[in-house]
Amino acid sequence: MNILVTGGAGFIGSHTVVELHNAGHTPIIIDNFDNSEKTALQGIKNIIGKDVKYYEEDCRNQAAVEEIMKSENIDGVIHFAAHKAVGESVQNPIKYYENNLISTLTLLKAMRSQGVKNLVFSSSCTVYGEPDTSPVTEETPRKPATSPYGNTKAMCEDFLRDAIASGEDMRLLSLRYFNPVGAHPSAEIGELPTGVPSNLVPFITQTAAGIREKLTVFGNDYPTADGTNIRDFIHVVDLAKAHVAAFELLATKNEAYYDVFNVGTGEGNTVLQLITAFEKVNNLKLNYELGPRRPGDVEQIYGDVSKAAKLMNWKTEKTLEDSMQDAWRWEKKVRGIEG
Ligand code: WQD
Repeated sequence: MNILVTGGAGFIGSHTVVELHNAGHTPIIIDNFDNSEKTALQGIKNIIGKDVKYYEEDCRNQAAVEEIMKSENIDGVIHFAAHKAVGESVQNPIKYYENNLISTLTLLKAMRSQGVKNLVFSSSCTVYGEPDTSPVTEETPRKPATSPYGNTKAMCEDFLRDAIASGEDMRLLSLRYFNPVGAHPSAEIGELPTGVPSNLVPFITQTAAGIREKLTVFGNDYPTADGTNIRDFIHVVDLAKAHVAAFELLATKNEAYYDVFNVGTGEGNTVLQLITAFEKVNNLKLNYELGPRRPGDVEQIYGDVSKAAKLMNWKTEKTLEDSMQDAWRWEKKVRGIEG
């Protein structure tokens, strides 16, 4: 199938383009390169051995999206393109609402006008807020988002849900990611955070590379085994494969359909357990200190992923150690560090 991948040059998008190709599909990228690099396109080519067609376009440009859907005979869309920095969204909510909401609405309108019926949406576990218990299932009530970024994810889920409830003849899915980490084992593609990383793993790898002086662990007084937060760290390649499985599930539907799936490992690890895994598998000592809690951090969250296993026939295959090894290999490649 010909699949339009918005944000296909980004971290999760580029890994999904590789897995779509590996599964025999034809991915076509639309990306405005606002928060991604064209080097990712070369990385994808180095992995799959061929160029992936791309359009340097903004998916808020409905006419452009419609033209691409028509000319590329698009069967469906996987929608990654969005601003995703939680902290920045608090500082500049209008930028986040304008981009993340308008892009999704534009895609739905273009799909309607072009008769494209299938869409997989990149949602987030952030819609659960601070859950009362973990693991969270898809029936766990969403909580008010703790950031405008999280709010855009919840609102876009509602766009899809309400479109189907209104009778749109589409097949739509929201995938609620947990914490994507790692990189492609080839070290040809990976995460390229701009500026000081807010996420844990890129901060760890940049500390190990000597770019950051030390990592601060945000709080060790939480009611967990070692006092640090618990998260569900999922390897980005496993996450990419979930999108292929989701798309293939949609292809089996011949009537209006909307559903939501948790996409995680189904296990929780603490921040210190992740650091220990990073040090062990890469045989190095990380320079970190224990510091104060970060405001807004959820104490613990990890996913019950049995629904995806049952209905999408998908589950993770990689371990936390795989993620830490692949993340470090990628950082070393980007920084030109030998060994
Ligand atoms: C993870 C843990 C921090 C940095 C983010 C997005 C969310 C979703 C998942 C996409 C926390 C701790 C971090 C550091 C630390 N993404 N930490 N020192 O906040 O769980 O969620 O990824 O949908 O929307 O916000 O990820 O990597 O920032 O933090 O101790 O320097 O690592 O306290 O416990 P988070 P994160």
